[in-house]
Amino acid sequence: MNLFDVYPLFNITPVKALGSKLWDENGTEYLDLYGGHAVISIGHSHPHYVQRLTEQLNNIGFYSNSVQIPQQQELADKLGKLSGYEDYQLFLINSGAEANENALKLASFHTGRKKVISFSKSFHGRTSAVVAATDDPSIVAPVNETENIIFLPFNDAAAVEEALATNEVAAIIVEGIQGVGGVNVPTSQFLQDLEKLAKKHGALLILDEIQSGYGRSGKFFAHQHAGIKPDLITIAKGMGNGFPVAGVLISLEIPAKHGMLGTTFGGNYLACAAALAVLEVMEQENLVDNAAAMGEYLMEKAKALPGVKEVRGQGLMVGIELETPCAPLRKALLDEYQIFTGSASNKKTIRVLPALNVTQAELDRFLEAFAALVK
Ligand SMILES: Cc1ncc(COP(=O)(O)O)c(C=O)c1O
Repeated sequence: MNLFDVYPLFNITPVKALGSKLWDENGTEYLDLYGGHAVISIGHSHPHYVQRLTEQLNNIGFYSNSVQIPQQQELADKLGKLSGYEDYQLFLINSGAEANENALKLASFHTGRKKVISFSKSFHGRTSAVVAATDDPSIVAPVNETENIIFLPFNDAAAVEEALATNEVAAIIVEGIQGVGGVNVPTSQFLQDLEKLAKKHGALLILDEIQSGYGRSGKFFAHQHAGIKPDLITIAKGMGNGFPVAGVLISLEIPAKHGMLGTTFGGNYLACAAALAVLEVMEQENLVDNAAAMGEYLMEKAKALPGVKEVRGQGLMVGIELETPCAPLRKALLDEYQIFTGSASNKKTIRVLPALNVTQAELDRFLEAFAALVK
């Protein structure tokens, strides 16, 4: 059987990883400033993470959500404490798309409405309602097409107010920082307006923090830079440092009912162990502060690089927009300097999404390689 060939692949076979380094089968070392698409939060194969998952697997790996799994409450407590959302509820699933699907369902159940406001250049996942809420018609199949999604310009609160006036909108969904779209940061004013307008018109505000959350922005959640509190927050990626685990943080205004949502794998022992290990390391090693400091350093230095038009981002979610398409530079960084970076739907923007414990020396290696290649 052949693999279903949907991914253009680099001809690299990593066999070992530690922190922000990868090694292929020939022993060649790579610097990972992409983190497998913003997934690696505490660094590859962190010893505490390896130990916690191994211990859990030696005890019990899986049972469904029909028995008591105390690790779920332990995770909810720790996440509530570190994120500042102790007064929210947690629903556990397995992927970002699934988190957003469930958030949209909750908003629709709660309001009894169908319409969803999403924004230009947004990315929310590839499954039914969330792919329809993603601003990329090329990945929306006919079965996903719906008239329930209203796309509006990013950072345009007046357009949102107009759309909400119909009183048909269940939810506004917005990324804490747009990732796939090219690292576009919403203004604090825009997020504050969304919070106010959603309340005024009986809609719920969903913050998709799947890429921008979990400390990456230099605060636990990117929307906390704007001082808002959304009704629903979705998390995945960095939450498990590579183990598939995701969640929805749900305000107490939205009551749970048995059977309302469900999942087979969500919240299993291994997923909880991975997510707990991540939070423990983030706390012990002050990784949110490191993300803020390293991000500031990287963005400041990147602005002075040759060929750079604009640097956008917060913390370690950084978009470096060039004057020209960035594909040749990304290829040269990988081929000549063994440095992984990310792309974006904006073809001129390189995304830098390293582990939250990346060091200044590792960022310097990237900055020096960039300067040598662009001259
Ligand atoms: C902001 C955002 N939302 C949702 C998703 C979908 O997550 P997953 O691929 O885990 O379904 C992604 C993935 O890139 C994302 O960046």
